[in-house]
Amino acid sequence: MKIVILGSGYVGLVTGTCFADKGHKVYCIDVDPKKVNSIKKGIPLIFEPGLEKLLKKNIKNGNLEAFLAKEFYSKKIFANISFICVPTPSNDDGSINLKFIEFASKDLGNYLKNVNQYHVVVVKSTVVPGTTDSVVLPLLEKHSGKKVGKDFGLCMNPEFLREGSAIEDFLKTDKIVIGAIDEKSGKILEGVYENWDKSIPRINTNLRTAEMIKYTQNSFLATKISFINEIANICQRVGVDAKDVSYAIGLDPRISPKFLRFGVGYGGSCFPKDVKALISTAEKTGYTPELLKSVVSINEKQPLEALKMVDDLEGKTVSILGLSFKPDTDDIRESPSIKLITELQKHNTVIKAYDPKAAENMRKLFPDITYTNSPKESLRDSDVCFVMTEWKEIKELKPKDFLISMKTPFVVDGRRVFDPEEKKKAGISYKGIGYGLS
Ligand code: UGA
Repeated sequence: MKIVILGSGYVGLVTGTCFADKGHKVYCIDVDPKKVNSIKKGIPLIFEPGLEKLLKKNIKNGNLEAFLAKEFYSKKIFANISFICVPTPSNDDGSINLKFIEFASKDLGNYLKNVNQYHVVVVKSTVVPGTTDSVVLPLLEKHSGKKVGKDFGLCMNPEFLREGSAIEDFLKTDKIVIGAIDEKSGKILEGVYENWDKSIPRINTNLRTAEMIKYTQNSFLATKISFINEIANICQRVGVDAKDVSYAIGLDPRISPKFLRFGVGYGGSCFPKDVKALISTAEKTGYTPELLKSVVSINEKQPLEALKMVDDLEGKTVSILGLSFKPDTDDIRESPSIKLITELQKHNTVIKAYDPKAAENMRKLFPDITYTNSPKESLRDSDVCFVMTEWKEIKELKPKDFLISMKTPFVVDGRRVFDPEEKKKAGISYKGIGYGLS
């Protein structure tokens, strides 16, 4: 099939590359010349394991081409299906900002005007229930002068990939959700996924349900994290190690060990924004989602739990290990480290931060702190060290690395990556989220 990907950011580029790798002809388009030029050279502007190799392969074999939006529309290339993959950021009040969805819908409407075959528009961006039928559809009809069902189809196909394992998540997904306005649209979208394993469940449903599935899944996972973080905070205060508690309850298959890792809270471009957007959507209907509101407030306070473990921060030299919101990404959006640095700066501290991939992104937010080239350099002469992201090379640090480098060896383990006993035996002061033993 010929596929247009509208918006070649994270989700768009991974989606487009994977579709191309499955044999489709893919046109990745974007309004940002820097992004487009970089994709043309086979270099993604984001760090994602495996993406560059797959992108290069599919550019070379001609399955994937990148265009500036204007350039693409002027070429009059006609595809069978297009995927809207533009960002859906938050407004200041937490509600969803649909401006990019609106721009994309107008552009696609104008494109559809000239397409003289049946074309299906698919929304892949995360959008709150009702967006596809009440925002995207009217704009498509208005700008194309065509009618849904007769001249073109419409679907909603949410994405469940995680940064750091996006390719694998996309190709080996646990489900394919196909929300469609009618049977014909759904069948055409199913055709795109024809080469995916037949055992993967296809969920055929309507547009709003598909939209809601995405929010429900992300909100549930965020709830699991805030729940275990709350339990960890209690464990710490009643002299219990939350690791044992989390492990034990995770053995019950009704609970499962997944997403039961407690720490400094969840970040990233999805959970924080999606839970808030669902809250805002619910409140607009007159319903107050108490549980989801608590999920957010626990998460917002969680990085400060690490800070509370140090009695006096005034004038101290602080090492921060890990800046990205999770390992294997350079993404710092909503990273707990941002909150930590903001608070530390109020205490006249000298901050030395290390991250293998995310330092340059953090430098744009905090140009005044020191970024080091290695964890050991970050530890050198520091009074306290905060572990904020569980990168492999941080997990592999040995007690001697802290003893040799730090002024006073004191570790606050925000991700519980170290064995407390080993650290204590070596003479290192150790505190960790959810670690209530002394
Ligand atoms: C998340 C979802 O996992 C994906 O399924 C979804 O497609 C994506 O959002 C999205 O909506 O686009 P992602 O944000 O890449 O993916 O990252 P996760 O691996 O889910 O981690 C999110 C945050 O939760 C990280 O800060 C991580 O450190 C934290 N986390 C995760 C915990 O604190 N504890 C856990 O047990 C798991």
